[in-house]
Amino acid sequence: MCGIVGYVGEKNAVSIIVEGLKRLEYRGYDSAGVAVLGADGALEVRRAAGRMKVLEGILRERPVAGSLGIGHTRWATHGRPSDENAHPHTDCAGGLVVVHNGILENYLEIKERLAAEGHVFKSETDTEVLAHLIEHYLESEGRLERAVKRALNEVRGSYAVGVMAAAAPDRLVAGKHGAGSVVIGLGKGEMFIASDIPAILGHTRDVVILEDGEVAVVTAAGVELSTLADEPVQREPVRILWDPIMAEKGGYRHFMLKEMYEQPRAVADTFRGRVAPETGNILLPDIDLDPSTVKAIQRVVFVACGTASYASLLGRSMIERLAGLPAEVDLGSEFRYRDAIVGPETLVIAVSQSGETADTLGAVKAARLKGAPILAITNVVGSALSREATGTLYMHAGPEIGVASTKAFSTMVVACYLVGLWLGRQRGVLTAEDVRKRIQDLVEIPRLIEQTLELDTKIAALARHLSSAHDFLYLGRGLQYPIALEGALKLKELSYIHAEGYAGGEMKHGPIALIDENFPVVALAPRDSGYERMLSNIEEVRAREGQVIAVVQTGDKLVASKAQHVIEVPAAAEMLMPLITVIPLQLLAYHIAVRRGCDVDQPRNLAKSVTVE
Ligand code: AGP
Repeated sequence: MCGIVGYVGEKNAVSIIVEGLKRLEYRGYDSAGVAVLGADGALEVRRAAGRMKVLEGILRERPVAGSLGIGHTRWATHGRPSDENAHPHTDCAGGLVVVHNGILENYLEIKERLAAEGHVFKSETDTEVLAHLIEHYLESEGRLERAVKRALNEVRGSYAVGVMAAAAPDRLVAGKHGAGSVVIGLGKGEMFIASDIPAILGHTRDVVILEDGEVAVVTAAGVELSTLADEPVQREPVRILWDPIMAEKGGYRHFMLKEMYEQPRAVADTFRGRVAPETGNILLPDIDLDPSTVKAIQRVVFVACGTASYASLLGRSMIERLAGLPAEVDLGSEFRYRDAIVGPETLVIAVSQSGETADTLGAVKAARLKGAPILAITNVVGSALSREATGTLYMHAGPEIGVASTKAFSTMVVACYLVGLWLGRQRGVLTAEDVRKRIQDLVEIPRLIEQTLELDTKIAALARHLSSAHDFLYLGRGLQYPIALEGALKLKELSYIHAEGYAGGEMKHGPIALIDENFPVVALAPRDSGYERMLSNIEEVRAREGQVIAVVQTGDKLVASKAQHVIEVPAAAEMLMPLITVIPLQLLAYHIAVRRGCDVDQPRNLAKSVTVE
């Protein structure tokens, strides 16, 4: 979840790196640093605990310049957030620096050995140990890339690393294994390295993506790839079509707000080119599931974390109803250690915006070992998840920068729907006519989301009444239950208010004890198959003087007469209604958080992608 940016060329590396790090800041919050090779041939490092603005202040006071440099933003794994633990880390002599994303499992044993040889460590990090290990090998190997390979062959764990040394003034060396991506950006007479594409998108669209166990030597003239076993690697660059402005706030106050407003476009992009509304065809060539594999599928298991797991709960219902297959959802962190019963007849669908979530990746690896075909639903092209999977359905949401997922959730749900329709058709459960109707329902969704976003001002006003509450309950039934979970998660992570999502039927089994006049209950009550029973929930809350905030379909006078606050949303097909009801809950969490002065885009203690267990 840390961010890495490096530059080699003719320009001042510092401003390019700082600009790139600011785009990656969402990946690691607690400290940042930059190192450059100065004109005198010495490495200069500036780093500090805190956000990027702290580092920028230091750079203003003690400027550095050079055309070879590397930088990092950190989310602590080993060692608390501090100046000493901030990256880049140097060796004993200060002749080389390392930035690193991931965890080195055997760093303590290597540290002990190096300490016995006289190495002195200044931080608590595993990364500093790697810097010293590379220094140790640089003496015997001479060439930086050789020393990096020797060191990387010795460490266990996951890493994306960038290394530079005064002794190798024309190059950056990058390596990767396990979680964390490394992309090499190709420019004219200049090259970039980054942990994430948006960091360098303003400079180039042509990138080479490193695979596990590979090392890149990056000079201003080009890139050479090889494996840790020294075999040369040839790889064609990939052209990234994302618009750099898409990765900026685009005039909105927060990335999250911008991303909520992008949802009509994002969900349309998810189904664009994949559905034929006239014929009822679903075209998903990239999912790479051949007819015999599809025929053999007996059940589907979703693995995911957080918001992605709630989208998967909707995916579960879609698979059951559209493809007629038994389906379940497991959290990545549970599945991977559960010795779950899966095999070639189980389709595992791994859902992850980043494609880098360690728990989801761990679950996928466990399922693969048992021979299960893996379908990835992810947003990030070339992510670790897409590389692990048998096939991938990209969400095409565009980069999501706000830590709280919004458009990622919606596009995951649409992707699940497409998979459900595709499987239903392949397995003969749905006719072309069934699919055609379902596609018509889907095509309506962007417009309906747009209409729902018009509630923004009304919900901002509602947030005024609710922002001082200490606890919230979100209730939903059936397809609205995952939305209750998602609404509660959004409120918790953004505003730090305690909130729980519950299935309506479960309220009487415990949470009802919490209800009093200060307790807001958000009741999801569209006119679906759970409507009547949700009305009973609303009555139960009223009877205990709780405040009901009801999300209803436009024109529902009955619920309106029972709730203190009513949010009217347009009707959609029942299976797709969650894509509409989630919108006011995203807006509500956002506005409450803004009123409480919370950092909406980077809530405390959270990271955008959690690449450690
Ligand atoms: C969502 O708002 C959260 N930030 C979090 O639950 C997130 O969905 C989870 O960490 C999974 O991330 P992924 O989709 O990148 O795998």
